[in-house]
Order: sequence, then structure tokens, then C-alpha cells
Amino acid sequence: MISSIDDYKKKLKLLNQYDHNYYETDSPKITDGEYDEIKKKLLEFEKKNSQYKFVSNKVGFAPSKKFSKVKHTEKMLSLGNAFSIEDMNGFYKKIKNYLNYEAGQDIILVAEPKIDGISASLLYQNGILVQGLSRGDGEYGEEITENLMTIPDIPKKIIYKNFPKLMEIRGEVYIGKKDFKNIENNFANPRNAAGGSLRQKDFKKTAAIPLKFFAYSTIQSNYSHFQSQYEFLEFLKYSNFKTNPLSRIIKNIKELEKNYNDLEQLRSGLDYDIDGIVYKINDLNLQKRLGNLSNSPRWAIAHKFSAEKAFTKINDIEIQVGRTGALTPVAKVDPINVGGVMVSNATLHNEDEIIRKDIRIGDTVCIQRAGDVIPQVVYVDLSKRGRKTEAYNFPAKCPCGNDTIKEYNEISKKIDAVRRCPDVGYECSYMAKEKLKHLISKDALNIDGFGKKVVDNFWNLKLIKVPSDIFKLDYKAIKELEGWGELSCNNLIKSIEKSKTLSLTKFIYAIGIRHIGQENAKILASYFKSITKFKKLFAPSLIKAELNNLIEIDGIGETQIKALEIFFSNKKNIKVINDLVECLQISNFENITSGIFTNKTLMFTGGFSKMSRSEAKTLAESQGGKVLGSISKKLNYLVVGDSKPTNNKVQKAKDLQVEIISEKKWHELLKR
Ligand code: IVH
Repeated sequence: MISSIDDYKKKLKLLNQYDHNYYETDSPKITDGEYDEIKKKLLEFEKKNSQYKFVSNKVGFAPSKKFSKVKHTEKMLSLGNAFSIEDMNGFYKKIKNYLNYEAGQDIILVAEPKIDGISASLLYQNGILVQGLSRGDGEYGEEITENLMTIPDIPKKIIYKNFPKLMEIRGEVYIGKKDFKNIENNFANPRNAAGGSLRQKDFKKTAAIPLKFFAYSTIQSNYSHFQSQYEFLEFLKYSNFKTNPLSRIIKNIKELEKNYNDLEQLRSGLDYDIDGIVYKINDLNLQKRLGNLSNSPRWAIAHKFSAEKAFTKINDIEIQVGRTGALTPVAKVDPINVGGVMVSNATLHNEDEIIRKDIRIGDTVCIQRAGDVIPQVVYVDLSKRGRKTEAYNFPAKCPCGNDTIKEYNEISKKIDAVRRCPDVGYECSYMAKEKLKHLISKDALNIDGFGKKVVDNFWNLKLIKVPSDIFKLDYKAIKELEGWGELSCNNLIKSIEKSKTLSLTKFIYAIGIRHIGQENAKILASYFKSITKFKKLFAPSLIKAELNNLIEIDGIGETQIKALEIFFSNKKNIKVINDLVECLQISNFENITSGIFTNKTLMFTGGFSKMSRSEAKTLAESQGGKVLGSISKKLNYLVVGDSKPTNNKVQKAKDLQVEIISEKKWHELLKR
């Protein structure tokens, strides 16, 4: 609560400073949640003290001086916020009151994901894009036509015959999460990356960033061409704009609540950030009747998702060693609830990241949890730093005792940010243990009942050290262990026995050689065809010639060849892998050229009664299909098993009009 005018002025000054950081320098100093909190307090104060209207009348921030200012034909408004279903009920009530509707009377809404990007307005004359503006302060935007022209999703010329002669289209410029990964060192988050890239003085710099665009609104003067928002969205599609496929018609609060929950579930799997849902009254006549408040429409509202960020303290920094030797620093933090999930570890990525963000033990940090990915430390709250803290000294040694190295990346011509243990295989016990975890994983040997925790347990008890140990387990000892008994032991024996038979592709992947993932393993298997031929790589006299041949293979590059060379130049590795081969029956690579899924892509969700997911995947591939790990427009079929399919995958497939194959149909297709 703001209790005095002084306090109000102080907070207002702060808000202006934060706006400047956010809009002008693209370097926000606080989280969106904190910003909203300050703004809310200021608005509350202004409501009670009507002579103060700075925040109530403010929309966004002044345009940057880098670009010329252009007045928007109609003000680019912002949206009021709702944070709960109660707030949404309040919204319904208000508009019904305004329109003099009965409480029980339905009002149709369109729910659109609220894209966390940068809004822009596009002006078309006779179907030609003639001007593009940023939002600026809502009233005046920055003239960024050339920059917007570089975005492939924005049509430069529209051929749809019903496109009005003069038309303004508004929407959101954003950057995909995957694309953001490549440039994340320069920006705090995808939204800032989009803003920063879009407002480059030199539009060629904008062109270098893969920006995207979703169209979602127009100005009221264009309403005469349409009846409803939904119809307008259809019109946008016909005109070749990208519209969000997750937009929905909402008939009542029940549907609204369901859609909110569904979307919150889908959120982490989307390739773009959304921070809520925008609800718009569907009927454009009603929108007109409802009109606007000073900086937001009465006919729309944003229902925000709970922010998946929180503050906590770093108690320690632990170094984890991956199977390929990468040293990853992990912050051990005071357990904290981040968007509904308790977090006690957060990744710090690598040494450079710690230096860049100056992260220290004892610091209070902002933690972010984006969906299913490992929580990460976003920034340090320097105001909470004690006087006696010291910069973190990244250990120069791997916990195994080896001096670590930083490699020179031939492609990027830069020294790698990641520090590595130089061991090439099984000498470093930390790497060896991780290699075992990889070996038993789903896409490799896929041993049921043998998870990462079991590897840790067996490793600590010295039951396993190298891969072949898995096939010589001391079951007598295991039966005596806590959590193990006759039944679980027998099950383990069975699943280990089953895992012995595998394809050459899986075997190559299972070894866990750096840079040899599933795709490369497949390519190598299709080249070598049999384990006997693959074993040529194990022979010091033959390896050179074999590696030379690999240069010809499409998809295998120098990086992979070097990785194979390093791995198989090590005598211990050769012994370890040879011993493993002795335990297995590795089938030859079969080149299937045609089958029922030739040239088709598939994905699976849910469990099948007659086969494991891995078997289903193998079957699909043996029929010429390509199995994908995520749903996209490229996907031809989503195969839905009867047992616990992921609803949001099914929904997403429906949204993208991907054909769905039931378990029954799947078995029929394969005649099993
Ligand atoms: S409608 C007056 N639709 O949210 C209507 N806005 O906080 C305002 N946004 O400035 C725009 N997705 O940058 C609308 N589907 C969507 C949106 C959306 C994201 C952004 C937009 C706007 C901000 C309001």
C-alpha cells in the first residue's frame, strides 16, 4: 500500500526508471511480477487520489529516439489484467452490466494465447505493406517498416481478393524458444531479444534474427468488414498471416476455466512464450458498444498465468560431470516453490555464465522454471548481497582429479564456454557412471526397472563399473538390498535379458560417444550394416581407413569423425565396448526402403498393451516412418496408446490437424 504522496512519487520515479530499462535499453532490472506489483500499488493510489493520473493514463513507454515517430491511426492499447477465475467472473459481470444483459445471458468470447513478444502495427495500401510501427507509447510508434519487412511471417503483398484497400493489421513479433537459445547470451529473455532485434537501427541486423509474427487485431475503423473477432482471425489466415492455432471460442465460464487449464499445461511445450490468455468479446458490434477505457479496451482482458519465477538463496555450488565430460555448475538453493513445483537445484550452465552474471554462494537469486526444463538462475539480486561474499572460483579440476580443459570450437572460432574433463571414456569415474546411465536409458538398452537411481545405487555398492557388469550382476547381493526382493529381482533379470537383443543403431547410440546421437547412430549403422564391420573401428590398423570412408557419408561431419577417433584410440574404451558386445546379440542394419509409413512422420503418446514404446518406434521405422519427438505441422500421425496418453499432445495434434491413430488402428495397420 502507498500511504503518502512522497512514497507515491518515489515509486512513480522507480516505475519510470524500470520502463526506461525495459523499453529503451532492453535490460529489465526486475521481474514482470515485481513490475506488475508496483504498478498495481500506484494504480490503487491513483484511484483513491483522482488528481494523480500518471500511471492510469500511461501506455507503454515513449518511442526510442533512434527512429522517427509516427502517430498511430488509433491508439495501441494495453490490456487490463485478471489473475483468477474470480477476476474473470468480475469481468463477465461488468460487461453484462454495461450492456444491460441478464446475468444468465451468454456472451461469446474468443480466447487467444497472450504472446509474450512486442506488438507492432502494419499498414497495407492496396494489399502492399507500406508502413510498420512499433507500439511506442501507445499513441506514437517508432517507424520500423524495414525491420518488420525482414520477418518472413509478415506478408509484404496480399493477394486475397477481399483484402480491404486500406487495412491495418496488428499483432505480436516474437522469437521462438529454440531460436532464442542461439542468441540468449545477449538478452535477458525471448521478449527482450525480440524487442532488441526489432529495433535495430540497421535492419540487416534484424534480418539475422529469426523473428516471427502472429496477427490478432485491427483498428475499429476496419470493423465494418467483419462480424466477429473469430471471423476476423479466419480472414487473417486467408490473407496469409500467421494466427495462433490455439485460439478458441469460449461460451461460458466453465469452458473458460478448462481452456485456461489446458493452455497452462500446453505452455511449456510451445516454442514461444505465452504469459496468459487474452479474452476478447467475439461480436465486433458489442466490442464497439463497449468501447475503451483510457488505456485499455472494456471488451478485452488478459488472464495472466502465474509467473514461474521466484527468489531464493544459493547455499552452495556443486559441479556435476556429464557423460561427455562437461562440467555443469548447479546451484543448491533453499527449496522454493516456483510455479507450483518445489525447486532446490538450479543450473548455472557453465563457468562463463557464472562470471557474466557474477553469481556467488550466499547470493539471493531469481530462479526461473520454464516448463519441463531444468530451473535456471536468471540474475542476482545485488541489493541483498552481503559485504563479505567472494566471486565464485570455478574449479580447474574435475572431481576425478584431472585438470579440466576448454576446447577451441573450429566452427564458431571461439573458445568453448564449457569446461571439460579431458578423459575420453571410462577412466574418469564420474563420466563412467553417467555413461552407464545413458546405456540403460529408454532410447538405448531400455532396461525396465533399471533407472538412473538404480545406477547410482549399484555404482555406490560397486556392483557395476563398466557396461558388461550389467549382464553379470550379483543378484544374491541385490535381493538383500533395501527395496529389492525376489519379485523385483526376477523382473530385472527378465528385462536385462530382453535388452540383450538390439539393433546396430541402438548399440552405436548406447555406447554414448560424444557427438553420436540417435540420428548419427542411425547413419553409421546404415553404413556399417553389421557389428562385425563396425568393429573395424576397434582395430588400430584399420580405424584410419574406416574413418576416411566416413567423410563421404551425408550427415557425418568432421566433428563426429574426430569424436569416433578419440573414443576408439583409447585401449580401455575398446576393451569395455568389446566386453559389452560379447554380452549382446546385435542385429544387422536392415535397409527398409518402403513400408506403410514411407516418407511419413509419427509420434507416440500413451502406453500400448501389446508392445513397449521403443518397440512401437522401431516398428514404425522398420515400415519406413520417421519418429519425431515433438508435435509440429510436419507430423503426419500421432499414435495414441490406450494407457495414459498425454492430453495436451492429443489436443495439440488436433489443433494442427495431425491425423490421430488409435491403439486399435495401430495394431490393425501393423496386423498385430
Ligand atoms: S489484443 C486492445 N491479442 O498483450 C487489444 N494482445 O498487455 C490489445 N498481446 O500490447 C491487443 N497477445 O502486445 C492482443 N492475442 C493477443 C495478444 C496481445 C499478446 C500483447 C500485446 C498487447 C499486450 C497487452
